[in-house]
Amino acid sequence: MCGIIGYTGHRPALPVVLEGLRHLEYRGYDSAGVGYVLQKKLHRVRAKGKLHNLEDALTNLGAAITVSCAIGHTRWATHGIPEERNAHPHFSNDGTLALVHNGIIENYQELKAELVQKGYGFESDTDTEVLINLISFCRQSEPSLLAAFAKALSLAHGAYAVCMLDCEAPQTLYAARMQAPLLVGKGVGEYFIASDIPAFLASTRDVLFLEDGEIVVASPNTCSLYTLTDIVHPLKREVQTIQWGIQAAQKGGYRHFMLKEIFEQPTVIQDCLSGRIKADNHIDLPELASMPLPKQIHIVACGTSYHAGLWGQHILENLAHIPVTTEIASEFRYKERFLIPQDDLVLVISQSGETADTLAALRTAKEHSIPTLALCNVLGSSLAREADRVCYTQAGPEISVASTKAMTSQMLLLTCLALFFGEKKGVLDPLQQKHLLATLKTLPITLANELPTMHEKAKFLARKYAQAKSFFFLGRGHCFSLALEGALKLKELSYIHAEGYACGEMKHGPIALIDPHFPSLVLALDDAFYPKITSNVVEIQSRQGRVIAITNPGTDIAVDDRWEIPKVLDPLSAFCVLPCLQLFSYEMADYLGKDVDQPRNLAKSVTVE
Ligand code: G6P
Repeated sequence: MCGIIGYTGHRPALPVVLEGLRHLEYRGYDSAGVGYVLQKKLHRVRAKGKLHNLEDALTNLGAAITVSCAIGHTRWATHGIPEERNAHPHFSNDGTLALVHNGIIENYQELKAELVQKGYGFESDTDTEVLINLISFCRQSEPSLLAAFAKALSLAHGAYAVCMLDCEAPQTLYAARMQAPLLVGKGVGEYFIASDIPAFLASTRDVLFLEDGEIVVASPNTCSLYTLTDIVHPLKREVQTIQWGIQAAQKGGYRHFMLKEIFEQPTVIQDCLSGRIKADNHIDLPELASMPLPKQIHIVACGTSYHAGLWGQHILENLAHIPVTTEIASEFRYKERFLIPQDDLVLVISQSGETADTLAALRTAKEHSIPTLALCNVLGSSLAREADRVCYTQAGPEISVASTKAMTSQMLLLTCLALFFGEKKGVLDPLQQKHLLATLKTLPITLANELPTMHEKAKFLARKYAQAKSFFFLGRGHCFSLALEGALKLKELSYIHAEGYACGEMKHGPIALIDPHFPSLVLALDDAFYPKITSNVVEIQSRQGRVIAITNPGTDIAVDDRWEIPKVLDPLSAFCVLPCLQLFSYEMADYLGKDVDQPRNLAKSVTVE
């Protein structure tokens, strides 16, 4: 989604802001812009498309190179097509105020109609231009710009993170958040306002997290926090120090962030397990201490996190004997009848912790007094702060839009959760527990050894199957959710149509599509499902369908392409299957010349409905 960066300090602001925008590119966007005050006048430069277009437009900065306060924005179109006139910042009619904005002002049509009646005009189709004119209008009757800012924001309904410049106070940034991420970076003699940490991580790791309904006023040496309803008494806020550095948010020699993040998975597994497996071979989750065992768990998530949830359902039911449902957050939040009892648990899963639908689902559960637990990657994110309890997945920053290592960490934490609940409930077979824990401990090494071979195989297969227009990804048991994820990855990255199916469901319709041009990637591990899967594969082959099978050494499955991976104790075999699927899509997209890290139309963190 959109990205915001604001800077006020002692350095030339435009290069700092451009650098910040570069670190926000991964969020997905289709136009970009910057705004600043020069000689008491607001200026802006905006460009459609990628950041290099904006950089080209900014090559001759002239006197603007001296400004030491600026705002910048990457826009992911919601209201109005991706054109320069819709790109941010937007100005008030009188040219005194400039605003960048993430989110959606839901009542902007009504607000706009009122402003039109008062004589305001609009150049863009955006809700942002409405908001900045509303602030400008409120300024006429309020005692200060801060009061007008607070007043206008309280009239706006919906989600927003905003950052504003005033031509009369060229070193001051005004910012606020409501259900959209925004934080403050504190440097020495400088402050940053940003929608995400990587935007300023090269300059500082010290962060002030904002809450919904809070306002910030920042200038180089001061930063004051208020609420929308109280702009007189400043709030106190502790500075938190981020534990990861800028290296974690750079490519580190890899061609793409996605490839780097796939190859980070052995370390992610190690980090996520660290401190959670005790010397006496038990899982320790202090975050869940004193939490009663839930009767039933309702997993709610979106996208890849939803697939991790589906996988977790299988694991939790099998190891902890707790019934589990898994639902897409955008459906869960609009349930007509909410039948979940208060001794159940709603488990929300999200890499970013800011996905609007997942956040709304969490709030719905809380409104009904259901205990909530969040599995989340981003420290201090909205989900992490609002859930009753939070377990961090500790995957480090994930920059590529398509999620990879975050899913691995979510699955790992779900495994820990299943072992934890299983033991607590007294249903976990001690021998199985011992074997699973032993396998978990060796997983990082197994995977690290295998990744280079997997990568080579993925490269070979991607070239061989690059002409396919459609793909099936098929699996059974815990591999069904992986098949769904494999299909999602291929769609997202290479724009090839792909569907994930449960193998046994093929005969109920999908098999009608099979022909020599419609290949299937089948997850045929050497497990209890293997005989069933081989029968399904024969059915596909009888219709001349080509088949790639991810399988283990020693199986006899005869297909067009065998992709052998080491045999790992089930269901932990998933941790070797998933990287194959990720690498296959990665290589396919790269071979087809697609923008791997920023696929078209997609956003890393979907903070609108
Ligand atoms: C977007 C991203 C996906 C991600 C999904 C859920 O659609 O492109 O990669 O899986 O959001 O994000 P979350 O941050 O809630 O896990």
